[in-house]
Formats: sequence, C-alpha cells, structure tokens
Amino acid sequence: MLTKLLNPAFDSPSKRLAMKYFTVALVLFAAQLVVGLIAAIQFIHPSFLFGILDFSVVRMVHLNALVVWLLFAMIGSVYYMVPDETGYEAVGIKLGELGFYVLTAAVAVVVVVYLLIQVGAGTEASIWLINEGREYIEAPRWADIGIVVVVLIFYYNILGAYLKSEKKTGIMTVLIADLLALAGLYLAGMFYTDNISVDQYYWWWVIHLWVEATWEVFVGAIAAYALIKIIGAKRQIVEMWLWIEVLMLFGSGILGLGHHYFWIGTPEYWWEIGALFSSLEPVPLVAMFVHVLYDWGREQGHGEANKIKNVVTNTPAMAWITINAFGNFLGAGIWGFFHTLPQVNIYTHGTQFTAAHGHLAFFGAYAAILIGMMYLVVQGAYGLKTMRMTALTKWSIGLLCLGILGMTVALTIAGYEQVLVERAELGGGWQAFFTAQGLPWYVQAQAWRLIMGVVFFVGFVLLFIDLITIGRKQSQANDTHDTQVSASVTPTMA
Ligand code: HEM
Ligand code: HEM
Ligand SMILES: [Fe+2]
Repeated sequence: MLTKLLNPAFDSPSKRLAMKYFTVALVLFAAQLVVGLIAAIQFIHPSFLFGILDFSVVRMVHLNALVVWLLFAMIGSVYYMVPDETGYEAVGIKLGELGFYVLTAAVAVVVVVYLLIQVGAGTEASIWLINEGREYIEAPRWADIGIVVVVLIFYYNILGAYLKSEKKTGIMTVLIADLLALAGLYLAGMFYTDNISVDQYYWWWVIHLWVEATWEVFVGAIAAYALIKIIGAKRQIVEMWLWIEVLMLFGSGILGLGHHYFWIGTPEYWWEIGALFSSLEPVPLVAMFVHVLYDWGREQGHGEANKIKNVVTNTPAMAWITINAFGNFLGAGIWGFFHTLPQVNIYTHGTQFTAAHGHLAFFGAYAAILIGMMYLVVQGAYGLKTMRMTALTKWSIGLLCLGILGMTVALTIAGYEQVLVERAELGGGWQAFFTAQGLPWYVQAQAWRLIMGVVFFVGFVLLFIDLITIGRKQSQANDTHDTQVSASVTPTMA
C-alpha cells in the first residue's frame, strides 16, 4: 500500500486522496493500540509510567486515536467511492488535499500537547488550547474549529460531484444526507456550560447519535457499495435494504439516546423512553446482518461450485464485511442490549461491562468494515481484478477476532464481579468500588485482557504487513496490463 501510495494504478485524484486518508488511519490505529496496551498494564501495575504518562492521558489518547482513525478511514472511503458512484471526480480536490494536510497536522499537534501538558488548572484558556474535557472528543476548541472547516471542505468536494451526476444513486443520496447530520452533530459537543447535566445531555448527542445513528447509516451505505463491487450484488436490492435500515436506525437510534439519560439528572420520563427505544436498536442491526448474508447467499446460489470462486472479487474485503455483520450484531446489538434497560443499567452503569460492550461494538461495527475498505483500496491501487486471501490475511483475521473476543469476555467477567460485589453486595459506595477491584476475579480478568490485547496487537501487525504486501504479491501473479485497464475509474451504475 505504501509503495503504491505515490503511484497507484488509478489516476483519479479523489481516490489518490482517499489513499492518503487511509494511510494516516492505519498509523493512528497502531498508536491507539500501543497506548491501549500501556493502559491495560496500568490496570495491573498502577504505578507503571506514573508521572510520565498518566492513565487519564493514556486512556484519552487511546479513545481519541480510535475516533480519529475511524473518521479518517470514513472520509477516505467516501473519497474513494465518489468517482464510482457519481461518475465524476470530487470537485475542488486541491482544496480537499489542503484540508487533509491541515487535519493531519492539527491531530499531531493536539496529541503532542496532550502528552506535554498532562496536569494543570482547568481554565477558559485550557479549553481553547489544551483539552475540552469531553470524553472521546477532548480536542481543544481551536482544533474543533479547524475540524469543522476541513469537514466543510470535504462536504463541498463530495456534494459538488453528487450534484453534477445525472443518475443520483440511492447510496450517494443517503451518504449526502447522513454526512450532513454527522457533521452537524459535532457542533453539539462544542459549546461549554458549567452545568454538568446540561453538558452531558448535549455531549451524548455527539457520542450516541454518532455511533448508534449516523455512523451506522454510514456503514450501511459503504456495505452496500462494497457488496456491489465485491459480489456484483444487485443495486436495487442493496439499496432497498439500505433505505429500510436508514428508516429503522433513525427510528430507534434517535430516541434510544434515552439510555444515556437515566442517571445524569434528566427527567425520569427518559427511563421509559430509553428502555423502549434502545431495546429496539438491535432490530436494524439484525437487518444489516441479514442484508449481507442474504446478498452473499443469493449470489452464491446462482453459480456452480467452481463459478462461486470468481463471484467474490476480493475475498479479504468480503471476509471483513462478514465480520462486520456479525460483530455489529454481537457487540452493539447483544452486548448493548445487555445493559440497556434501566433496571439492569443501575447495576452495570460505568462498570467493565460498559468497556466490554465499547470494545466489541467499535471493533465489530466500525473497525471491521473500514479494514474491509482498506483491502478494496489496495486492490484498486494495484489494479487487480481479483484479490485473494493470503496466509497473512487469515492469521491476522484469526488473531484480531480472537483478541477482541478474548478482551470482551475478560471485561464482561470483570464487570460481572463488579455488579455482584461492588453494587449488589456492598451497595455501590466509594469503598465498594475499590474493594471489588482488588478481588481475584477482577484482577485475573484484567490480566486476561492484557494477554488478549497482545494477541490483538500481533494480529494488527500481521494485518499491516498484509496490507502493504498483498497487492504487490498478487499483481506479480497476474497479467498486470490487462488488470490495470479495468481498474481505472469506471462508474458502476449497474
Ligand atoms: C456500533 C454501535 C455502538 C457503539 C460503537 C457503542 C459504544 C458504546 C460506548 C463506547 C459506550 C461507553 C460510553 C461511555 O464512555 O460512557 C457505550 C455505552 C452504552 N451503550 Fe453502546 N454502542 C453501540 C450501540 C449500542 C446499542 C445498539 C445499545 C443498546 C441496545 C447500546 C447500549 C449502551 C448503553 C446502555 C450504554 C451505557 C452504559 C453505561 O451505563 O455505563 N449501545 N456504548
Ligand atoms: C491492544 C488492544 C487494546 C487494549 C489493550 C485496550 C485497552 C483499553 C483500556 C485499558 C481502556 C480503558 C478502560 C477503562 O477505563 O476502564 C480502553 C478503553 C476503550 N477502548 Fe480499548 N484497548 C485495545 C483495543 C481497542 C480497540 C481495537 C478498540 C475499538 C475498535 C478499543 C476501544 C475502546 C473503547 C471504546 C474504550 C472506552 C470504553 C468505555 O468507556 O467504556 N480498544 N481500552
Ligand atoms: Fe447509546
């Protein structure tokens, strides 16, 4: 991937910019995991790197790197699919390029400042220059404004191409609307109030309405695009599913917001609203799951055994989309449903249950599909007609899935112990919080999380190597001239 970055087989500026976004995404993914491992060690040895890299900062960098790499990969995905979906290049791409460099530089500066100034007074100036103090979106105000400007440029690039295109595909229409909502919600996390309830109330608009509404719709749109590309799924069918998912995701996702309003000082009617609508949230996730498997099964049903092999033009990407369908359903649907009723949440709130759900949901719903997109991009960059899994692809899939499932199970056990001992038995006070964390079930679970985190990290290293080598390996095995022609920008309007 890196070698082809400067000289991909396609000459689409939009797709070239996409590759840059994906490259930074991979670097940030690596950084996220390194700090994640440090945080996991600190759970077991609290004095590890004390005074040099405090847990609060390590955790913050872990989460910010996660959110930012996902956003980079999402933006990359859109730049990549625009020429195919609209038949036009993103407009004003030079400005888009500039936006990319500004955003990347801003991210680097923000992280350096986090590391240099780890403790200090919280003043008006620190909100502007250092840290806004809102979990997941801690970036200081100056960076917020920069992000908004870059996103506006990105939106202009995409909207321009969409407006030019004669045939406005359902996938693009959904994306255009969804990206507007996604970007607009970011503004809710930008203004400051002294009232912590009001602050949390709006903070959840960004966090919940991103991951459980706008990002999910986004995933539906790129899954639809990828299924058309990879298995030649019928556009009519994938777009029909997409519209159904959009309807359901917004239906349950928006009022499902109530499951974060149980204990922050909002009126009690949120208990009922949150309980009902958030319980419905797994329904669209089942639809997304059925969507992928149905399309896949349908396509396979059409051919004899030897034809099937040719139907899937990118087996690594298809594998990751399937992992996405399962992972989204398990991590968000099942692990989310676990603790979404107020009667349950009063015991599980803020325990390691939450962390278990957070890991499996983010990985299953977002990391997986964006890794799938990375394989599609590499296929495009090398102009390959088909891409097949290598031994590395299989090992990395195995280790990444084992690692994330292992971490999730370990954290679920730790959460279970907290619920029983800290909440049920000891009544949930401050002392109870610490007592529960010293008991063997908790301590051992944290050790297992670290072990499984290492497994995940090894899987990531293999994934990285695979992504930068698979294209070269497979293009040597193919007739390059033939495949390069077919990979230049061709609108897929089928
Ligand atoms: C891909 C989608 C999802 C992602 C990425 C996700 C991620 C997360 C994360 C990271 C948190 C912790 C937030 C914090 O730091 O306080 C959280 C909390 C929560 N999530 Fe999800 N989630 C998703 C979908 C769902 C769904 C569908 C449900 C319900 C069916 C759900 C139920 C909850 C609940 C109840 C909490 C609050 C936990 C607590 O009280 O501590 N989530 N989610
Ligand atoms: C090397 C692998 C990883 C390790 C060792 C690790 C470790 C950690 C640790 C120690 C925390 C702090 C938990 C707490 O405050 O109780 C955390 C939080 C979190 N991590 Fe990871 N992590 C890893 C990979 C990932 C991946 C791949 C994702 C998502 C794709 C992810 C998403 C999250 C999220 C969403 C939270 C916040 C959870 C919450 O607020 O409840 N992590 N991680
Ligand atoms: Fe939520």
